[in-house]
Amino acid sequence: MDTEPNAEQRARWNGPSGSAWSEYAEHFERGYADFDAAYLAAVGAGADDTVLDVGSGPGALALEIAATACRVVGVDVSVPLVELARRRARAAGRGDAEFVVADAQVDPLPEGPFDVVASHFGSMFFDDPVTAFSALFRVMRPEGRLVLLTWQGPERNPWQVEVLRALHPDREAPIPPTDGPSPFGLSDAVRVRDVLGTAGFVDVDLEDLRAPHWSGADPDDALRFVVTHHAAVLDGYDEATRARALDRLRGLFEAHDTPDGVLFDSATWLVRARRP
Ligand SMILES: C[S@@+](CC[C@H](N)C(=O)[O-])C[C@H]1O[C@@H](n2cnc3c(N)ncnc32)[C@H](O)[C@@H]1O
Repeated sequence: MDTEPNAEQRARWNGPSGSAWSEYAEHFERGYADFDAAYLAAVGAGADDTVLDVGSGPGALALEIAATACRVVGVDVSVPLVELARRRARAAGRGDAEFVVADAQVDPLPEGPFDVVASHFGSMFFDDPVTAFSALFRVMRPEGRLVLLTWQGPERNPWQVEVLRALHPDREAPIPPTDGPSPFGLSDAVRVRDVLGTAGFVDVDLEDLRAPHWSGADPDDALRFVVTHHAAVLDGYDEATRARALDRLRGLFEAHDTPDGVLFDSATWLVRARRP
């Protein structure tokens, strides 16, 4: 068994999830776009601020921050997503935004000190979150700010859970855990306070944000996206099971179809904390 820290997430983000996010970056970004204004306001990067974006992925939010900050560095464990972020930076004329391949828990981090460490859905995947946030703490200046956007729990995010249930017609859906590396890895408010407090942060605050999650322009679009993103699950089914899963998904997306696209409820935590 591979016991390297974050081995599974590194493989995932340099494999199937890295490919899906590269191909569908704009779809993912539109999905959660209603949270972005609150996140960017909390980051509040001014002209003198240096910002480290953790798990920067395809880089859209880092590039938004780069428009107002003095220096932005994105770190991400995914080679394809860092390459995409660099291409997007050049295309946007923001070649000064830096994107570095690094595991924020394990590898040396870019040299700080940073005024703000921010992460937009990129900080929930650590095997050992205390070690990771302690490392992030060390590259911040005293009085530096930590701003995280993370998903709340499965029960408040049917956009993900109902899709997984529809996708698994014959067994219990594998809902990602709330106490390990996963999209829900920082969904438990008690765990978030515990992890950040142990890493040295103070004034930890979690703001409850709710917004519709856009899952596609229409049911066909939503289905196409899920079929790509969960190809491995569907490819493992026999023909009849695959047809049933696709029927269930179509029915789900039709039930959530609106004039503004396929919409589900979703909930995040906007987490703020401070290095004393
Ligand atoms: C859900 S995506 C979010 C990407 C981007 N921030 C966004 O919102 O569009 C999570 C990102 O975290 C990155 N990631 C996961 N584990 C990481 C780690 N240990 N160190 C750095 N990045 C990591 C993944 O490669 C992926 O790009």
